[in-house]
Amino acid sequence: MPQLTEKRILLGVTGGIAAYKAAELTRLLVKAGAQVRVVMTQAATQFVGAQTFQALSGKPVITDLWHDADNGMAHINLSREADLAIVAPASADFIAKLALGLADDMLSTLCLARTCPLLVAPAMNKQMWDNAATQRNIAQLTTDGMVLIGPAYGEQACGEIGAGRMLEPADLCAAIVAHFAPRLLAGKCVLITAGPTIEKIDPVRAITNLSSGKMGYAVALAALEAGASVTLISGATCLTPPAGATIVNVVSAADMLNAVNQHVATADIFISVAAVADYRPELAHEQKIKKSSDTFTLNLIPNVDILTQVAQRPQPPFCVGFAAETENLIANGTAKRQRKNIPLLVVNRAQDALGSDSNEVTLLDDHGAHALARADKLSIARQIIQHLANLYKELK
Ligand code: CTP
Repeated sequence: MPQLTEKRILLGVTGGIAAYKAAELTRLLVKAGAQVRVVMTQAATQFVGAQTFQALSGKPVITDLWHDADNGMAHINLSREADLAIVAPASADFIAKLALGLADDMLSTLCLARTCPLLVAPAMNKQMWDNAATQRNIAQLTTDGMVLIGPAYGEQACGEIGAGRMLEPADLCAAIVAHFAPRLLAGKCVLITAGPTIEKIDPVRAITNLSSGKMGYAVALAALEAGASVTLISGATCLTPPAGATIVNVVSAADMLNAVNQHVATADIFISVAAVADYRPELAHEQKIKKSSDTFTLNLIPNVDILTQVAQRPQPPFCVGFAAETENLIANGTAKRQRKNIPLLVVNRAQDALGSDSNEVTLLDDHGAHALARADKLSIARQIIQHLANLYKELK
């Protein structure tokens, strides 16, 4: 079932170039099953036509406080009907209005009259974002209970680079889905490892693997959505960490082990998604190794198996392992789960998973094997979190 079925969402669009992205957000929300009512400021209509939003939402778009067909009560009725309101993009000017509680157009009046939660997705030039007045207004919105999503850092329409970009429509949609997600892990501390490790040979060479970290980061986001407090111990990746997680960056398997040991005592759940190197060079040379015409032999010694060690603690957290196998997935996964003595193991085909944005996995637990259909990694992560939350409740 689509994740936003029957949810009524009020989408406020204010004047900024990111208004065109609000059209895509409307499409994504409708696709997820939501009923979307769009309210535009006059400035927003300078960037995108109301017809665009009307076509995408299938509902009339409201732009005017004074000409509503609802007996002058649209600002009350619309806000009462909504389960959630979001302003995306929210210009610096509109954020200032929200901070002051002004109500001089339909959107600001709706925001003031609403009883539902309000998410605000800022979009502006970086100087405007950094300006003390904007920062003061933002702090006020948070104090008043509005939820800020973004902004992102990156290249801006004006050509400058910095903070102030609106989050991408898919990220805004994910934040809205998260808002409605059941808080299955509320109050739980979840420790997650993700990404590859790098084992140094000398100052310029290393052994690593092809893990992108995408699955681990998706699991961290899904755990946050489920209400957990999340610590993400990450090997080197190119990914933006999920907002709200505590991030610990590590390089080698030994670093990862240290970081896990520092955080594991307070964890209720440990999810080991990282592709930890099984071996490291016996000696990491201090100087660059010079080539010769001889065969070169590198001695490797085993790394500690972090997951096994955590599972062997006197009072272990609920442990979840991941296994990337190239053949005999279920048999190898089942043996691995028993060997590591953990309640849940997620197995996938290494060739399918590495670096990809989607994945197809099977969950192995005491009840047997549960196959999940191929989907994007965040959808898979959400299903894993749901499954582990049920199992956790059953076992604890
Ligand atoms: N793992 C770990 N520490 C290691 C190696 C693996 O914590 N030194 C964890 C991984 O994060 C994963 C699980 O163990 O959750 C399985 O990892 P995998 O590499 O598939 O299994 P291995 O035990 O290394 O066995 P093999 O490489 O022989 O398949």
